[in-house]
Amino acid sequence: MSRTVLVLNGPNLNMLGTREPATYGHETLADVCALCARTAVEHDLVVEFRQSNHEGEAIDWIHQARGRCAAIVINPGAWTHTSIAIRDALTASDVPVIEVHISNVHARESFRHHSYISGMAVAVLCGFGTHGYRLALEHVGHLLNKKG
Ligand code: DQA
Repeated sequence: MSRTVLVLNGPNLNMLGTREPATYGHETLADVCALCARTAVEHDLVVEFRQSNHEGEAIDWIHQARGRCAAIVINPGAWTHTSIAIRDALTASDVPVIEVHISNVHARESFRHHSYISGMAVAVLCGFGTHGYRLALEHVGHLLNKKG
């Protein structure tokens, strides 16, 4: 059974570390990538870590996960609140999805309170900082071990 996980980051997350540090912290996306790689080793997972500012590119990567990846961990960034296309792609992929947000979106502006993704995700993590990525991957490991 596949133990490959697509960890997909949406728009502006390439700016992590310099972008609004009071909200998103000082860690860079490279730090998050390294955290995911460490967590993957601990849980016998293979992580494909990606980021795009282009919705079509992200949709193509989601489609390519179909039949190949055991899970998708996605921080969709602002697409969370705007994109039915990303949700439809995730549904079409037929791969379990865990939605991650670094910040607690519910404690922020009201336009961040609605997610197009949460209704089809198996789990949602927000407000854990970058640690949320680690928690999401640990949960994937847990789910896969349960399946045997
Ligand atoms: C975010 C929250 C979104 O509202 C925002 O647009 C982002 C990052 C987070 O990780 O907290 O780009 O997904």
